[in-house]
Amino acid sequence: MLSFHEISFWKTKEKRLLNMESAKKVILTGMQPTGKLHLGGLLGATNNWQKMLDDYDCLFFLADQHAITMPYVPAELRKNTLDCVAQYIACGLDPERCKIFLQSHVIGHAELMWILGCITPIGQLERMTQFKDKSSKVGESVCSGLLYYPVLMMADILLYNAHLVPIGEDQKQHLEITRDIAQKFNNAYSETFVLPEPYIGETGARIMSLQNPAAKMSKSDKNQNAVVHITDSDDVIRKKIIGAVTDSDSKISFDQKNKPGIANLLNIYAAATDQSIEKSIAQFADLTNYAPFKRAVADAVIAKISPIRNKYLTIANDREYLLSVLRAGKEEAQKRANKMMAKIYRKVGFLID
Ligand code: ADP
Ligand code: TRP
Repeated sequence: MLSFHEISFWKTKEKRLLNMESAKKVILTGMQPTGKLHLGGLLGATNNWQKMLDDYDCLFFLADQHAITMPYVPAELRKNTLDCVAQYIACGLDPERCKIFLQSHVIGHAELMWILGCITPIGQLERMTQFKDKSSKVGESVCSGLLYYPVLMMADILLYNAHLVPIGEDQKQHLEITRDIAQKFNNAYSETFVLPEPYIGETGARIMSLQNPAAKMSKSDKNQNAVVHITDSDDVIRKKIIGAVTDSDSKISFDQKNKPGIANLLNIYAAATDQSIEKSIAQFADLTNYAPFKRAVADAVIAKISPIRNKYLTIANDREYLLSVLRAGKEEAQKRANKMMAKIYRKVGFLID
C-alpha cells in the first residue's frame, strides 16, 4: 500500500503533467458547413492546421450558426454538416488529436456574442468588407445576423481563449475586430481574454479559380471546372487542371500581374507538394511549353487529394462514428465554455446564484 507521502508525491506529479498539457497554446478554427470542401480550403486551411495538431491544443468546429446568415435549406444544412465532419477528418483532422464540435451544440457562443455585441460599435460592423459585399448581393432584405456575423466569430474565438486562429485572407478583418473588442473588454472589466493572432499559411493562402485567376476559387462558382473538390475523381481533377486558363506565353515564372494563371498553378503546386514557390519555379525553369508543367501540377494535386477522397468514402456513411466524434468534442468544448462564461458573467456584473 502507498504511504500518504507517496500518494501526495504522485498526485503532485500528475497535476504537473496535467498542467503541462493545458499549458499548450490553444489553436482554434471554424468553417461553415456549407458544402463540399475544395482545393482552396484544403491548401489554404486544412493543410496548415494539420501541421499543428501536435504542438497545440486544437479545437475545430463547424460554424453552423454562421451558416444561417445567408439564405439556405435546413435539410441541406443538416446533411452538409455531417458530411463536412467526414471531409475534415479525411483531410487529416484526427479526432484523437483535436476536438471537433458544432457551434450550435455548445451553449456559450451565442451568449458571449450578446455580451461582446454590447461593447461593439455598430459603425465598426457596418464597415466590415464581408458585410458590405454580402449585403450588397442580398439588398434591402439583409438580415441583422449578417451584420452580427463578426461578433459571433469573436465569441467563437474568445470563448476558448484561442492564441492562434488559422484563417484565409478573407477572414483577416474579422480577426482584427476580435482583437480590438477583446482589448476593449479587458480594459473595461480587467484582463480576461488572450488577444488572438491570425495564422495564414505562406502558400495556399489564396488559391484562385482555374477558369478566372482574378477570382478566388470558391464552391459557389457557377463554372464547376474552376473548382477542384476533394471528392473529385483523379480523372476529373486532371481534366480540370489541364484545362486551367493560362496565357499564350510558354515560360514558367511567378508573375501575379501578367501571368496570374501560371502564378496560381505554381502556388497550387507549391502548397500541394509542401515546398516553396522558389523551389517550384526552379523545377520548371527549363520548360518551353506549359503542358508538362500542367501535368506535374495535376499529378501533385491527385497525390494530395486521392488518399483524402478514399478516406472520406470509407467514413462518409458511418453516421454513428461521425456523431460520436461530435459528442466527444461537444463534451470537452462545453466544459471549457461553462468555465469561461461563469467568469465573464461575474465580471460583467450578472448575479451568480
Ligand atoms: P468558399 O469561399 O468556397 O465558400 P469557405 O468560405 O467555406 O469557402 O472557406 C473555408 C475556408 O477555406 C476558410 O478558412 C477560407 O479562408 C479558406 N478558403 C476558401 N477558399 C479559399 C481559397 N480559394 N484559397 C485559400 N483559402 C481558401
Ligand atoms: N467566418 C469563417 C469562415 O467563413 C468561419 C468561422 C466562424 C471562423 N467562426 C470562426 C473561423 C472562428 C475562425 C475562427 O470561413
